[in-house]
Amino acid sequence: MAILVTGGAGYIGSHACLELLRGGHDVVVVDNLCNSHEEAVRRVRELAGRDLVFHRADLRDAGAMEAIFRAGAIESVMHFAALKAVGESVEKPLLYWDNNVNGTLILLETMARHGARTLVFSSSCTVYGDPASVPIREDFPLSAVNPYGMTKLTTERILRDLQRADPAWSIALLRYFNPVGADPSGRIGEDPNGIPNNLIPYITQVAVGKLAALTVFGDDYPTRDGTGVRDYLHVNDLVIGHLRALDRLRSRPGLVAYNLGTGEGHSVLEMIHPFERVIGRAIPYRIAPRRPGDVAEAWADPTLAHQELGWRATRGLEEMCTDSWRWQEMNPDGYAGSE
Ligand code: NAD
Ligand code: WQD
Repeated sequence: MAILVTGGAGYIGSHACLELLRGGHDVVVVDNLCNSHEEAVRRVRELAGRDLVFHRADLRDAGAMEAIFRAGAIESVMHFAALKAVGESVEKPLLYWDNNVNGTLILLETMARHGARTLVFSSSCTVYGDPASVPIREDFPLSAVNPYGMTKLTTERILRDLQRADPAWSIALLRYFNPVGADPSGRIGEDPNGIPNNLIPYITQVAVGKLAALTVFGDDYPTRDGTGVRDYLHVNDLVIGHLRALDRLRSRPGLVAYNLGTGEGHSVLEMIHPFERVIGRAIPYRIAPRRPGDVAEAWADPTLAHQELGWRATRGLEEMCTDSWRWQEMNPDGYAGSE
C-alpha cells in the first residue's frame, strides 16, 4: 500500500517524500509543478536510493486523480498541494479558492470512492489570525485575515464536517508555524519563484549576492526589539511530525489538530545574527514600515503534539541557518540551475 503525497515536488512535500522513502514506505506523488520542478523529485529518488511514482497532474483534474488512484493501491494521503503566497491570494482570490479548496474537494471525493480515508492536511498558523496572546494553543479562536488563510480555515472546516458525517475518516490538521532549513545534503530545499516573500529565503539570497539588502518590515512592534517574532522550525522536524501523525491516525482514528512549532519565538533581528555567524559576514539590512497584514508575534504551544504524538522539534536555530545556507550556496539558482 502506498502513501499519496500531493505537492510532493514542493519544498515541504519533497522533504516528506524523502523521509517516507527512508522509512520504507511506498510513495506516489501528484504535483502539477506550478511552483516546483521535477528535478526535486529526481533528487529525492537519488538521496533515498529508492524509486517513487510521479504523476504530473492537477488536483482539480478529476479524471487524472481517478486514474492515479486506480493505478496505485493508495491507502493514505499527505496533502501539501496548495498555493501559498498571501499577497497573490489578495490579488487573485478566485484562483486561491479554486486551487486550494476545489482541488481538495476533488481529492477527497476521489479518496472516498477508493476507500482511502486517512489524510494528513497541511494547515497553517495563519488560521489563528492575529492571536490575542502567545504561545498559541490549538483551542485558540480561529480566523483569517487574507484569502490564503481563509482557504486553509475553510478546508479545516470541510474536513471536520466530513469526519463528523463519516467517522471512518481519520484526519490530522497540522498547523505549521514557520518552516525553514533544508535537508543537510544540500540537494533539496526551498526554491521560491522570483523575489522571496519569506524571511529566510530572502536572507539567503542576500547572503549569496542575488539581492542587495534585507528589508526589515517594522521595528515598532511591541516585541523585545520591535521586530516581528515568529516560531521558525526545521523542515525535517516538521516532516517527522507528519509521520507521527500518520501513525497516530492508524492506531486511533478520528480528527485531530496539532501545532507544529518549536515553542520558541525569535525576532527578525535575532534571525539575522545566527545567519551572519554561519556565513561569516554581515547581512546588510534596512528598516522599513510594517508589512500590511503582519502580526507582531506568533509562536506555538507545541505541548499537544508532544503529548499525543511524542513529537518535539529537536533542531535549533544554528542548524536551521546552516542547512538553509548550504542549500542556497550549492544551488544559487535553485533547481532551475540544473535543468
Ligand atoms: P510549495 O509551493 O513549495 O509546494 C506546494 C506544491 O504543490 C508545489 O510543488 C506545487 O506545484 C503543488 N501544487 C499546487 N497546487 C497544485 C494543484 N492544484 N495540483 C497539483 N499540484 C499543486 O509550498 P510548501 O512550502 O512546500 O507548502 C506545502 C503546504 O504547506 C502548502 O499547503 C502550504 O499552504 C502549507 N504551509 C506552508 C508554510 C510555509 O511557510 N512554507 C507554512 C504553513 C503551511
Ligand atoms: C517572518 C517575519 C516579517 C520578509 C508567512 C505566511 C503564513 C505562513 C508562514 C503559510 C515577519 C519579517 C519577512 C522580509 C521581513 N505560510 N520579514 N522582511 O509572515 O510569519 O508567515 O509564512 O501558511 O501564512 O503569511 O513569514 O517569513 O514572511 O515573515 O522583515 O523580507 O519576517 O515581517 O515578521 P510570516 P515570513
